[in-house]
Amino acid sequence: MSDKLWGGRFTGEAAEWVDEFGASIGFDYQMAAEDLEGSLAHVKMLGQEGIIPPADAQAIAAGLQELQEELAAGQLTFTVKNEDIHLNMEALLTEKIGPVAGKLHTARSRNDQVATDFHLWVKHRLPAVMSELTTLQSTLVKLAKDNAAVIMPGYTHMQHAQPISYGHYLLAYFEMFQRDYERFEFNQKHTDMLPLGAAALAGTTFPINRQVVAHELGFDAIYHNSLDAVSDRDFALEFLSNASILIMHLSRMAEELILWSSYEFNYVELDDTFSTGSSIMPQKKNADFAELIRGKSGMVYGNLMGLLTVMKGLPLAYNKDMQEDKAGTFAVMDTILAALKVFNGMLATLKIHPEKMAASLENDFSNATELADYLANKGIPFRQAHAIVGALVLKGLQEKRSLTAMSLTELQEHSDKIEADVYQVLDPKVAVDRRTSLGGTAVANVIKESQRDQAILDQR
Ligand code: ARG
Repeated sequence: MSDKLWGGRFTGEAAEWVDEFGASIGFDYQMAAEDLEGSLAHVKMLGQEGIIPPADAQAIAAGLQELQEELAAGQLTFTVKNEDIHLNMEALLTEKIGPVAGKLHTARSRNDQVATDFHLWVKHRLPAVMSELTTLQSTLVKLAKDNAAVIMPGYTHMQHAQPISYGHYLLAYFEMFQRDYERFEFNQKHTDMLPLGAAALAGTTFPINRQVVAHELGFDAIYHNSLDAVSDRDFALEFLSNASILIMHLSRMAEELILWSSYEFNYVELDDTFSTGSSIMPQKKNADFAELIRGKSGMVYGNLMGLLTVMKGLPLAYNKDMQEDKAGTFAVMDTILAALKVFNGMLATLKIHPEKMAASLENDFSNATELADYLANKGIPFRQAHAIVGALVLKGLQEKRSLTAMSLTELQEHSDKIEADVYQVLDPKVAVDRRTSLGGTAVANVIKESQRDQAILDQR
């Protein structure tokens, strides 16, 4: 017989390097606390329901509690010989309390055990993600309110399009992070489910009480199909997918901060504490942290694709392939928690240069739509107004002059509907302030929206 916990029907021993390939302890040790938590709830129920003698249940529970203390004190060591966190814990428990430890695995399989541990692991950490998101959203709201009146060029195709409020720009990200928040909220629903009790795949003949275990572990719901309970990794896929969308949002904003802190733009300046220098070029101030957030999106997407691919061909129920679900999920959790924190710090300390933003609106044609709208308001069909302004822009480009630099007579040569009040309309600040349509960039709108957004945060 092999000396493995499951070794009864084996005569041969695997070499250590083979064991190493099969083992998951190298990463699933991170679920040690969850494994003990799940085992405690299970054994309590076994005792209560009289499935094992209450005295045995108590002895096992006491041993598990000691292991919890030793884990917290950093005193537990695990070995590849025992394959994964579940078998390592069982071996440690056996060392501590003797063969009675073997009763813990009554009415349980590692299949429902690992699913339970993994659910608990994600369930315990989603609130931290949501709390970091809330912090970031708070920073955005505050900055948007304070900078509602800062006017900058808005871009489409990376070309100057129309002037916007910098606060409006910030609140666009608030909305994206709000959707992220709601996605993680929904993610909680599918994570907050108890697989334990499904046993290997088919349920168990023992009179277990899954409600008691669910209650003990704080699960909101219970899997109602034992095959699904041990085969489902949707909650992890949803997490990876939500994390991918979130880091895509962070990455887009990071890209703008990188671009805007370049010499050519100079709209913003990152704080020293969120930049790095160059080992050769003394003048350099690099946006390394923004770049890393942009770069780490690759790893996050990769892990989503990885798990989708692992799952796609798996017949029901458990297959060892599913052991590959954890390392990527753990890494993504660590990465997005850190990325959110860094990003928030970077944003909160960011210096902006409103004068640079304003200067880049001085000689551009981002007020061309204003003139077209002005003519349309005077009864000229918008298409025709568009053509009139197009001709004026061409003239401006040829003569290197902005629309406001042209005299009234020059403007009137293109349309007799143009009057002296046109210059006011061409002012970028006025262009922003007149966009009072719902969701528009008017400064008053931005202030109102920042109050609405603050109220959303206050309800959390
Ligand atoms: N280490 C395994 C995993 O992470 C635990 C479940 C093993 N179950 C089994 N039947 N081999 O998936």
